[in-house]
Amino acid sequence: MIFLGIESSCDETGVAVVHAERGLLAHTLHSQVSMHEEYGGVVPELASRDHIRRILPLTRRVLHEAGVGLADVSAVAYTAGPGLAGALLTGASVAQAIAWALQLPVIPIHHLEGHLLSPRLVEPRPEFPFVALLVSGGHTQLMQVDGVGQYQLLGETLDDAAGEAFDKTAKLMGLGYPGGPALSRLAQHGNEQRLKLPRPKLHSPDLDFSFSGLKTAVLTQRNKARAQLPESEWAAFDADLAAATEAAIVDVLVGKSVKALRTTGLQRLVVAGGVGANRRLREQLAPALKALSAEVFFPPLEFCTDNGAMIAFAAAQRWQAGLVSLATPENYGFSVYPRWDLAQGVAGPAE
Ligand code: KG4
Ligand code: ZN
Repeated sequence: MIFLGIESSCDETGVAVVHAERGLLAHTLHSQVSMHEEYGGVVPELASRDHIRRILPLTRRVLHEAGVGLADVSAVAYTAGPGLAGALLTGASVAQAIAWALQLPVIPIHHLEGHLLSPRLVEPRPEFPFVALLVSGGHTQLMQVDGVGQYQLLGETLDDAAGEAFDKTAKLMGLGYPGGPALSRLAQHGNEQRLKLPRPKLHSPDLDFSFSGLKTAVLTQRNKARAQLPESEWAAFDADLAAATEAAIVDVLVGKSVKALRTTGLQRLVVAGGVGANRRLREQLAPALKALSAEVFFPPLEFCTDNGAMIAFAAAQRWQAGLVSLATPENYGFSVYPRWDLAQGVAGPAE
């Protein structure tokens, strides 16, 4: 069984081919970062247009790299949500069109399900059950994962996502887009001890997060420093501020992940989503979990941020778990779900 997967929910076009038994055969990605950079964030209309330009050439390339032809494909999977409506529609319509032309089944995939199964793409493969820390630009959630399709929400952000906290603080510090990697790079030259930023909800009994207050604290500290310090010291202050911001976000993510493992009694943590690429988070989680004799699994960096491999792979996993039928559909009509809570189920939100 060979699954073609298409991801186009935001600013990355990803296409991949996964073999149900042999795993990932090939994947390709086009990032729109340089296109959106000058606007300081993703411009949805430009994102959709670029996906349209990229999807078919990427599909041709990935099939070639996988050494398979369209005739070998058994099913076509695509990200049906959540994400930008226009961007989602491009991937969905190409997937449906390919499937219709070849009379193949189509498998709509929840973007976050893709992220949370992605650590199972590579060895060592985390066995179920595990706790997943999903940290992306739009989501921050702790989930208990008992199997493919068995997801239970343990806690989530009440306001900004962790990636959003990185992106927004980076933006107000003039670091451009995407903010997470930029802020993290600057933080490497800073001293996080210089400033103490709040760690919202770190000690609350629940497993929820709140990051929206952080940007105000960062802005206040930065404005104060600019009023008090000579200009020659601003750059060093910004590096310290970036380090303090990253430390605050990571402390909360680590603290809540430990709490989730304690609460559930599980011993495996899987980190998924773009913020999973963060170096400090990777460095701090392992020692924090050692005390619980728990293990942490990170997808390789290329599978942390958005990619097609996780979509094709989630489809293969769902098929192996008997959760999707591979019957050829009677019609190829489709919907995309820009807002879609994984806790609502993977069959699509109630409309
Ligand atoms: O999962 P993802 O690629 O897209 C979404 O589904 O949102 O995550 C993107 C997010 C952005 O907020 C980006 O700033 C953040 O992941 N990110 C990072 C790092 N790399 C990406 N945040 C902190 N440190 C990083 N190294
Ligand atoms: Zn994502």
